[in-house]
Amino acid sequence: MIALRTEKEISFLRKANEITAEVLVALAGMIEPGIRTKDLDVAAAKIIRKAGGIPAFLGYRDYPACTCISVDEVIVHGIPNDRRLREGQIVSIDVGVKWKGYYGDAALTVPCGEIDELRRRLMETTDRALAAGIAAAVPGNYVSDISRAVQQCCESQGFSVVRAFVGHGIGTRLHEEPQIPNYDVGSRGPMLRPGMVLAIEPMVNAGIYEVRVLDDGWTAVTADGKPSAHFEHSVVIREQGAEILSLSPKRVWGM
Ligand code: CO
Repeated sequence: MIALRTEKEISFLRKANEITAEVLVALAGMIEPGIRTKDLDVAAAKIIRKAGGIPAFLGYRDYPACTCISVDEVIVHGIPNDRRLREGQIVSIDVGVKWKGYYGDAALTVPCGEIDELRRRLMETTDRALAAGIAAAVPGNYVSDISRAVQQCCESQGFSVVRAFVGHGIGTRLHEEPQIPNYDVGSRGPMLRPGMVLAIEPMVNAGIYEVRVLDDGWTAVTADGKPSAHFEHSVVIREQGAEILSLSPKRVWGM
């Protein structure tokens, strides 16, 4: 069963997602050559707790941090560590927040200093694919309409969408039904209805879509070592279409 949330529940989900977005804006502003990915995680923990939230990723299936920081060929689930960012890399920041029992989840990818044309186009395409997926998230459409919109956007640019990880429903758990693949799985999936809350998250590779998970059990890298980008918003389905919950009150698109 896919939950249909009440307005009161949606207000809690909005709060959780606004804290999430606030963290993303702050961390995006910290990205520069020389910073350690661990520094970003420490900053995230402070902002989340100051806002009265709980880091949702920490301890989830024993995940050891508050954020996932995924650099270049790391697709998702990069564990913050002592390594320093270098000019030219692209950095995915993924954050989850629990607030009064309700979850926020969002991600974006930002450049570290000057980046090459391939990485710039990859980031821009992934952000646009998320927007296309969100635009397809209207009542009466199916989950597969989101999937197809995302896939079409990426493949038309010569990029590939990751199969091994998917978007998801979100609410009183971080991951709920339905799964939201970013590619056509050959069935239309559940129909979208007002009150459903979904985390849509395209993960897009410059090369092949295949993934390898490192020995830490988390870090997912591209099988060919080429870069990957990731954007995610949590949205609620309304009669008129999807409303994005994970925008910072500053309303910067992509954040
Ligand atoms: Co997610």
